[in-house]
Amino acid sequence: MDMLQMKNISKSFPGTKALDSVDFYLKEREILSLLGENGAGKTTLMKVLYGMLHPDTGEIYYKGEQVHLKSPLDAINKGICMVHQHFMLVPAFTVMDNIIVGNEPKSGLFVDEKKAREEVKALINRFNFNINPDTRVEKLSVGEQQRVEILKALYRKADVIILDEPTAVLTPHEVDSLFVILRKLKEEGKSIVIITHKLRETMAIADRINVLRDGKMIETDIDPKKATIHSLSEMMVGRQVALGIKRPAKNIGDVAFKVEHLKVIEDGVAKIKGIDFSIRKGEILGIAGIEGNGQTQLLESLTGLNNPESMKLTLKGKEIKGSADVFLRSGIGHIPEDRLTMGLATEMTIKDNLILGYHKSPSLQRNGILSKKKIRDYSNRCKEDFNIKTPTIDVKAKSLSGGNQQKIVIARTFSHDPEVIIAAHPTRGVDVGAMEYIHSKLLDLRDEGKAVLLISADLDEVRSLSDRILVLYEGRIVSESMPGELSEVQLGLLMTGNRIDEEVEDEIREID
Ligand SMILES: Nc1ncnc2c1ncn2[C@@H]1O[C@H](COP(=O)(O)OP(=O)(O)O)[C@@H](O)[C@H]1O
Ligand SMILES: [Mg+2]
Repeated sequence: MDMLQMKNISKSFPGTKALDSVDFYLKEREILSLLGENGAGKTTLMKVLYGMLHPDTGEIYYKGEQVHLKSPLDAINKGICMVHQHFMLVPAFTVMDNIIVGNEPKSGLFVDEKKAREEVKALINRFNFNINPDTRVEKLSVGEQQRVEILKALYRKADVIILDEPTAVLTPHEVDSLFVILRKLKEEGKSIVIITHKLRETMAIADRINVLRDGKMIETDIDPKKATIHSLSEMMVGRQVALGIKRPAKNIGDVAFKVEHLKVIEDGVAKIKGIDFSIRKGEILGIAGIEGNGQTQLLESLTGLNNPESMKLTLKGKEIKGSADVFLRSGIGHIPEDRLTMGLATEMTIKDNLILGYHKSPSLQRNGILSKKKIRDYSNRCKEDFNIKTPTIDVKAKSLSGGNQQKIVIARTFSHDPEVIIAAHPTRGVDVGAMEYIHSKLLDLRDEGKAVLLISADLDEVRSLSDRILVLYEGRIVSESMPGELSEVQLGLLMTGNRIDEEVEDEIREID
């Protein structure tokens, strides 16, 4: 049975037709995956269903009846809940408070806390959420916060749960746990919409796939068993896409970038316990590892954003010391880990974001002063090259979808000809078309003789692009290998602190 139908939905924003006569349906007891490039209209369609946006045209039928959803509260009361890309929890509140806020069970005039607690605990147990209701949300990992959002939806008796890019921020293990929960929800009769750019995930979890492209619904009845990663990419982008590009390095040169004795201590805890490595000209050095093993501190150290206990950093034989600005001007380009807090000024225009930090660059000046024309030309070129979906470069960065914001950050880093590129999760949240472009661009820069450090939680990405791979575990480099030398499983073992040879079996025998 259809749980809901959306018919002929259109929605325009100034300069953009985000949705163009879209039809959509969702069945009872199914997991539907909504695919599409950044800016295709996925979030907009789901916000219409959640009562957050009102469509210009179209009708919505829910459980057989036409509904007019005035607000999210209206949608929630009917059983439709949405977990947003950026969570909407109150960090200083406990899990329990966050879940029951605005929906407290009443006994007389007071909140019946006892009843609420029992209900929440029952839900946590039923779905194995593995979360303590009395912990403050600020203490939780991203994956745990997401579970709180889902709990919130369940507590509100949602029948339809919409998840907007829930896996973009999760580690592979957390993704597995999320999928276990989603399958269980389905068994209980819930309908789930999941938006993700990870096609392998889609094929693993979805019962049916929909593809949106430029605001139009291209397909609604794709069977994941019959789809391939290539066919899905092509449908999303509208052309053939090269995935998992491999291009071995041809001219690896002298050492360009050298890191020695790096130690970082934070709040008395050693986060990086003494690491050394170097990157040669024309080489991509990949760092594989599960987040939280020192990646953040490594990035901060290499871009001048923290003050390590010890470190000697040399770029082409010259030692670099000082503030982040010094690092940037010495030729270290940086694609930051967290684009919203580090990479973008969301209140500024796309154009201004594209020159952020580089306004002293001679290529943007004429006779020593900033040239408006040069900035426009350069910004428009970035928009073209990276396919940034926006009517103009004069809108604020915050109006763009997440993946398009990421494209701005990358376009900026790549355009200023750095000697070394420190790329942290460069394709997180971007669509396959942009991923293809970013990957080929990283390889081009390498082939021009740049040194590239690639830090990514995506093992496929690390394995296909790197010329050499280090594994970071608990603040130490525990392995160095050439591409193809170690399998995905072997790297996975190293990333979780295991060894990969027969010794592992020996150890197990010893324990027995
Ligand atoms: N509040 C808004 N104001 C102006 N334009 C918007 C707004 N929200 C979305 N858009 C535009 O609508 C289009 C679809 O965006 P969105 O639904 O966020 O895409 P997706 O979620 O598929 O990446 C994009 O071109 C985006 O820039
Ligand atoms: Mg979106």
